[in-house]
Amino acid sequence: MIGIISAMQEEIQALLNELKNVETSEKGMRTYYTGTLFNTNVVLVFSRWGKVASAATTTQLINDFNVDEIIFTGVAGAIHTNLNIGDVVIGKNLYQHDLNASPFYKKFEIPILKKEFLETKNATKLIEATTNFINTYNTYINNEEAIAFDITAPKIVFGDIASGDKFIKSLKKIKKLNKALPTAICVEMEGAAVAQICYEYEIPFSIIRIISDKANDNATIDFSRFANSIASYYALGILKNYFNN
Ligand code: ADE
Repeated sequence: MIGIISAMQEEIQALLNELKNVETSEKGMRTYYTGTLFNTNVVLVFSRWGKVASAATTTQLINDFNVDEIIFTGVAGAIHTNLNIGDVVIGKNLYQHDLNASPFYKKFEIPILKKEFLETKNATKLIEATTNFINTYNTYINNEEAIAFDITAPKIVFGDIASGDKFIKSLKKIKKLNKALPTAICVEMEGAAVAQICYEYEIPFSIIRIISDKANDNATIDFSRFANSIASYYALGILKNYFNN
């Protein structure tokens, strides 16, 4: 059983539409949708925003649904200037950019775990699936939408991700983040929390983050438009290739 999480329903809507033999269960104010997606047994859930909500959802997936792999899919704000709206980041190392328990622990260090970041698994397979998706982009993404977002040739970047309980929407904040965590290429609000729980329970974790905005003063508008209209079709295209390989 594979667990698939996003923060918002919009980010997995296209997957929910494809899910067969659906059964739902309600736990802790979340709805878990079990069924088959491209002939693979999955459980889909949107955790709601932030590290607490996503960590709690992950624990539930592991303990109640016996998932043996977790994939997170959703949108992110770009930190690195070479990333554009519509590019795909496949996560490598996940940092909690708002974690700082100094002087007891080093900045970003997760207490007890002795780690400042957590690594993903299955990235090679996910990059391959994303490459196949990009090569058949028009099958999943309607051309008018791609034009509306000025997406011409989406890039796939394997890189580090910074997570924290803050929606970033200013150049000043991006610069600060970039200085603190120079290898983090995009920012979001859940990934590192899910990664920590998966590490603690020894469950393989991977993450897809599609750039919805540039974390600048236009981020609020770009984020909403992108998440509402297009993000879940990326998830659909990438996961179809991931499960069929
Ligand atoms: N997710 C998508 N865009 C984001 C941003 N700008 N800040 C935090 N999380 C995000």
